[in-house]
Amino acid sequence: MIQIHDLYFRPFMTADAIHDRVRELAQAIHRDYAGRRPLFLGILNGAFIFAADLVRYCDLPCEVSFIKLSSYRGLRSGGDVTSLIGLEIDIKDRHIILVEDIVDSGNTMQKLLPDLMALKPASLALAVLLLKPDAMDHPVEIDYLGFEIPPEFVVGYGLDYNGLGRNLPGLYRLSEEGASQAKG
Ligand code: IMP
Ligand code: MG
Repeated sequence: MIQIHDLYFRPFMTADAIHDRVRELAQAIHRDYAGRRPLFLGILNGAFIFAADLVRYCDLPCEVSFIKLSSYRGLRSGGDVTSLIGLEIDIKDRHIILVEDIVDSGNTMQKLLPDLMALKPASLALAVLLLKPDAMDHPVEIDYLGFEIPPEFVVGYGLDYNGLGRNLPGLYRLSEEGASQAKG
């Protein structure tokens, strides 16, 4: 068990297991985008490691850029998604692969996808490492999904708990025992 701030987390997925799956997603993308030059658009901060691994496994001529928005406070998504910032590339007529760490309530995607579609890309696909299907308020169609996971809070591989844990190579999930211990 590891401690981050006031909470305890248990190992959930090894770095090796994640890498195997990310390699499979990259191969699917490679197949689907043969002959095109997609633009990977990672969503900061959470997707920075997933995006880095995905593009390294994807042996295609491609561009990589990042956008930022913020909707998440503590352990539960808030509805307060701000608009996207940092999009420096004109995505009109481009084949966009949006790269996100996790879809939880679906709020972020529900807000972001129409904003991106308004910029008239040639196509827009979604690569997401983790999906919590039980927590979804808004259905989101994911083209390249890593894993479906239970509606539990996870950290590592880019995902954080109040700023910490992003650098953990594997994924960890909140431990109920640890949570109650932490509360005393
Ligand atoms: P949504 O808008 O509720 O779908 O939440 C998406 C965002 O919330 C993700 O981009 C993450 O940054 C964050 N998030 C959701 N679940 C978790 C989690 O279990 N750990 C860390 N961050 C999470
Ligand atoms: Mg995120």
